Amino acid sequence: MTLPSPVPASPWRLSVAPMLDWTDRHCRHFHRLLSRHTRLYTEMVTTGALLHGDQHRHLDFDAFEHPVALQLGGSEPADLAACAKLAQRWGYDEVNLNCGCPSERVQRGAFGACLMAEPALVADGVKAMRDAVDIPVTVKHRIGIDRIERYDFVRDFVGTVAEAGCEVFIVHARNAWLQGLSPKENRDIPPLRHELVHQLKREFPQLTIVINGGIRSDDEIAHHLQHVDGVMVGRQAYHEPWQMAGWDARFFGAPAPVQDRREVEQAWIDYLQRGHEAGRPWTQAMRHALGLWNGIAGSRAWRQFWSDARQREVAPALLDERAPRPGRSTSPVSTATQANTLSQATEQVRLPG
Ligand SMILES: Cc1cc2nc3c(=O)[nH]c(=O)nc-3n(C[C@H](O)[C@H](O)[C@H](O)COP(=O)(O)O)c2cc1C
Repeated sequence: MTLPSPVPASPWRLSVAPMLDWTDRHCRHFHRLLSRHTRLYTEMVTTGALLHGDQHRHLDFDAFEHPVALQLGGSEPADLAACAKLAQRWGYDEVNLNCGCPSERVQRGAFGACLMAEPALVADGVKAMRDAVDIPVTVKHRIGIDRIERYDFVRDFVGTVAEAGCEVFIVHARNAWLQGLSPKENRDIPPLRHELVHQLKREFPQLTIVINGGIRSDDEIAHHLQHVDGVMVGRQAYHEPWQMAGWDARFFGAPAPVQDRREVEQAWIDYLQRGHEAGRPWTQAMRHALGLWNGIAGSRAWRQFWSDARQREVAPALLDERAPRPGRSTSPVSTATQANTLSQATEQVRLPG
């Protein structure tokens, strides 16, 4: 008797959420060091920025980041199609349409969460993108807008957009209140209703439904995976990145890519060093990694060391030799020695010629 081959995990089983100013290419590189299988998303990029701006700046990424999805903000089907083509040409694994952002600036552009009130327009956009590319076209949205609490609202939205060919829906399980709340408040204040997302999966078993919003522990992730196809984690992954190091083993049945935090730190410093040698300031990238040692004795000193703006000219590899080592009972060098070597290092860098 031949055993059925194991069903491969959905490509959307686990992902890190798109987060403006946070999930840039450096952040994604860092996250990829921690998990090889978790799907990563770019920050939202508007169709206007892509069509009229610096495409390389917005789209370039490293092959190491795969699987990686580009998130678009926009509503005009022809523009969305043109941007989806760019996403495909650049090698992204997916193009995702943002129907969940509540910011006023986004509302003025008539996209983001206010698109949930216009499912037919979203369907047109999805269709235009699907006609233009072969990569998956997916939608990220909320469960409702303003005070519309009815399940029918999100069900009809998903139904209409699915008819246009969208097969993957990432659902942030709270409403977007379009008036009176900042985007940040809109990620905390409207109540979470995870059960509505589970209900969507029951109603549309053929669709891939990914749940998002307020999910923190691995046990919570495992719980939701019993009800939906995937879980997207945002702030928790960003603030507690080490948690991701266990995801490949627990959720993909794959070997863990790293054994300890120091291994990640070293690979990350190598990456920063390469950027530094190419003339890119490393401090912008380093900010994404500052949570790496959270919870370990000495993590604060480590964070302070790596956020010290006075060191920004110094090569990361050189700094690493002097950096505090969290988790060690005795620091390899005293703080005073560190200060001295640091100023020497800074001087070395500033030597003329
Ligand atoms: C700093 C920040 C920026 C965000 N930017 C985006 C964005 O560009 N596109 C988007 O769809 N959602 C964005 N979000 C929302 C997240 O993708 C996610 O839906 C939300 O944080 C809820 O998930 P969480 O509770 O796991 O963080 C952002 C969230 C944060 C914290």
